[in-house]
Amino acid sequence: MIIELTKNNKEIIEDLENKFKEIFKVGVLDDFKNNPYTKYLVYLIDNKVVGFLNYYLIYDRIEIVNFNVLDEFQNKHIGSSLIERLINLSKENNLLNITLEVKENNEKAIYLYLKYGFKKVSIRKNYYNGVNALLMEKEMM
Ligand SMILES: CC(C)(COP(=O)(O)OP(=O)(O)OC[C@H]1O[C@@H](n2cnc3c(N)ncnc32)[C@H](O)[C@@H]1OP(=O)(O)O)[C@@H](O)C(=O)NCCC(=O)NCCS
Repeated sequence: MIIELTKNNKEIIEDLENKFKEIFKVGVLDDFKNNPYTKYLVYLIDNKVVGFLNYYLIYDRIEIVNFNVLDEFQNKHIGSSLIERLINLSKENNLLNITLEVKENNEKAIYLYLKYGFKKVSIRKNYYNGVNALLMEKEMM
């Protein structure tokens, strides 16, 4: 099951932060408080977090900020389901595009984005400590 997180989902937020400790340098509640654009799709199995996609909804477009599935739950279509949900909500809201940055050696994530119609639009040199980033975009219109 995928939910759109709200600041009232206290137990799920705690579970999310515990499962992905290295990622959450800024707590989710602080993120909600300080960033009006931030949103989280969270994939739950038996009410436990197994993956999430953090994105910014910036007026008429979306930027994917963070996208992770727990190692032991990867390759079970959870990541695909999260992207599909994001694409569907972009269609429902008539958004212009979805963009993201990904390490150019992250073959699996790039494979997934290409599968869902994202295109490589630019390279950002040394974006990740010596590793180039690909800027990818899915045009929705
Ligand atoms: C990227 C990530 C979110 C994908 O989640 P997931 O639940 O494993 O993805 P899915 O199971 O939906 O799909 C995986 C697909 O990649 C394919 N795949 C697996 N390993 C692969 C590899 N090394 N190279 C290319 N494709 C690969 C699978 O066959 C599957 O393809 P299919 O949909 O045609 O069957 C997950 O791997 C992850 O958390 N990675 C670490 C964090 C990360 O890199 N995030 C993205 C940052 S931009």
